[in-house]
Amino acid sequence: MKELQNDRFIRACLRQDVDRTPVWMMRQAGRYLPEYRATRAKAGGFLKLCKTPELACEVTMQPIERFNIDAAILFSDILVIPEAMGMELTFGAGEGPKFPSPLQSHADVEKLPIPDPEDKLGYVMGAVRTICSALDNRIPLIGFAGSPWTLATYMVEGGGSKNFSKVKGMAFTQPKTMHLLLEKLADSVAIYLNAQIANGVRAVQIFDTWGGILSTSDYKEFSLNYMQRIVQQLDRDYEGNKIPVILYSKGGMGWLESIADTGCDVVGLDWSIDIDQARERIGHKVALQGNMDPGMLYASPERIRAEVKDILRRFGHHNGHVFNLGHGITPDVPVENAAAFFKAVQEESAQWHQK
Ligand code: CP3
Repeated sequence: MKELQNDRFIRACLRQDVDRTPVWMMRQAGRYLPEYRATRAKAGGFLKLCKTPELACEVTMQPIERFNIDAAILFSDILVIPEAMGMELTFGAGEGPKFPSPLQSHADVEKLPIPDPEDKLGYVMGAVRTICSALDNRIPLIGFAGSPWTLATYMVEGGGSKNFSKVKGMAFTQPKTMHLLLEKLADSVAIYLNAQIANGVRAVQIFDTWGGILSTSDYKEFSLNYMQRIVQQLDRDYEGNKIPVILYSKGGMGWLESIADTGCDVVGLDWSIDIDQARERIGHKVALQGNMDPGMLYASPERIRAEVKDILRRFGHHNGHVFNLGHGITPDVPVENAAAFFKAVQEESAQWHQK
């Protein structure tokens, strides 16, 4: 692999020195950008966008061309894995994802195959290669997947949920079925992320959006264990490059020590914790990513800058911080406010890296 022109993001993930704090934003390619909405209309829907490598590349590059960002993230969705396992998936206009035939029985889970990513998810691999050639080693591309538990919530609930009654019902009344599902998902995700790495991504993030709905012991049993199983299977040294692994469990700030103990390189923070406290707890082991409240993007550019400065001050003069939001940017954020966020991190962070 060729050297990156801007490797700040990778260096920060590995807790090496940088000239300023790198920044990217979860969901940086998305509906808040008018050019994204235009490309999605041209594609004829969100899933078509994901499945057409040239268009997935186009939307991945849109925020990169507009702002000065230190990493690109593959444009795709976590739910392409269950679809590749044979479950029908739809995204209606203005609705969330739906699985019309959710998993119910042990037999349903037994039938699920572990998909070959080059075959069933070839369009994702095509997108990774197309994006890497468009990026031309300027900045790294981040690959990603959902955590087994988070994928299971959608596969068992049939879509988004308020109470998670079906997936918790399965976990607590049919634990063998749930564990079989989580095992299959962990192995599918590990093979899938390794294929993304082989096709050119320079880091991977596991999104555990729904780990935080569990109790401490259930989080360990149903979510963290399986993320650890993935971390252990990943190709973390690829063609001489270290491939950092980021784990992000929304609502999981009570479990930071256990998350850091999986052996990941970076722990993603939501906005419910002060970053100085997170650093005191686990900063000797891992880098931290985060953690501005995405809702702060509804404030003025001045207020956004003040918040960025406060997070930088709390983190202090240390290595190992990747600036990000605590969750994805929402569709109705004004583009100027997203621009103000990136600019503030770039302008305010260098002073924290002077020797
Ligand atoms: O960060 C990025 O820019 C990369 C792209 C990305 C998408 N989804 C694109 C997307 C990533 C990393 C995801 C991950 C994802 N998908 C998660 C985990 C992260 C998180 O936000 O918690 C989850 C839970 C999903 C499942 C999913 N996909 C939901 C619940 C929805 C509907 C959400 C909504 O806001 O309506 C999606 C759709 C989706 N995924 C969109 C995008 C840009 C919006 C689709 C559209 O254009 O209409």
